[in-house]
Amino acid sequence: METTSLTQLINLSGKTAVVTGGAMGIGAAIVRRLHEAGANIVIGDLAQDKMDALAGELHALRAGSAATWLCDVSKTEDIDALMKVAGDTFGGLDILVNNAGIYPMVPLSTMTEEQFARVIDVNLKGVFLGTKRAAEIMKEQGRGGSIVTVCSIDSLHPSAVGLAAYDASKHGVWGFLKNVALELAEDNIRVNGIAPGGVATPGTHAGEMNEEMIQQFTAMIPMKRFGDPDEMGRVALFLASDLSSYLTGSLIVADGGRLLR
Ligand SMILES: NC(=O)c1ccc[n+]([C@@H]2O[C@H](COP(=O)([O-])OP(=O)(O)OC[C@H]3O[C@@H](n4cnc5c(N)ncnc54)[C@H](O)[C@@H]3O)[C@@H](O)[C@H]2O)c1
Repeated sequence: METTSLTQLINLSGKTAVVTGGAMGIGAAIVRRLHEAGANIVIGDLAQDKMDALAGELHALRAGSAATWLCDVSKTEDIDALMKVAGDTFGGLDILVNNAGIYPMVPLSTMTEEQFARVIDVNLKGVFLGTKRAAEIMKEQGRGGSIVTVCSIDSLHPSAVGLAAYDASKHGVWGFLKNVALELAEDNIRVNGIAPGGVATPGTHAGEMNEEMIQQFTAMIPMKRFGDPDEMGRVALFLASDLSSYLTGSLIVADGGRLLR
């Protein structure tokens, strides 16, 4: 096989990436790394202000390199419109990052049917909708593509009481992705996942986890710290780029050793 330089392998110039939930946390870190590698970015999120701020940051680095679309990933029409923005603004779609997700901590004893359904709708149905539409577009374009999904260590093993709906969704996502990887391989569309453990984001540190929970979780991590969102951004860049050209159906665990416990 011909040797390609590292610079060429990691280069995403001329490519377009859609990142769901890209306004903050892990998604924003992924946006920044894919953009740094040269990709044009479409951010799809529920938080317009935060999307605008991040898009402004990207435009300052490279004018005209980002677009935003207010969307709920659990809605078909929102997903279709989001993917259309990529085509209309940048002429196509090469990379989809399914990152949007929610993880309300609710024990089974008090979990309502509505709470369970919302987690499944966003985390599992949202990945189905995004992946289906992106695959259709990528097949039409005929130049392959990379679909990267932010799963979780909870796709493989439960991490805490209160995450039963989340674990159902994330186990489901990983099962779904493995099968889709099988189906899309012949079109050179690679489908891979990232399994973060604990990552310090607005969702964990200013949202679902209090100080005591953070301390308890940290004690279970062999590396004794939460991950930085950028440490997921770097894995996403690997999976989105040709650095990982022979990976499909793979799940990269990035958890500071948490699953070793
Ligand atoms: N932070 C962690 O420790 C951790 C660990 C494992 C997996 N994950 C996964 O990583 C992903 C991102 O997590 P995070 O911690 O960065 O979350 P976060 O709450 O900090 O950010 C999530 C982003 O997704 C957006 N979003 C939420 N629901 C949406 C919807 N229905 N449609 C569109 N956008 C929506 C939010 O507005 C926000 O910008 C999730 O899929 C989560 O399950 C996170």
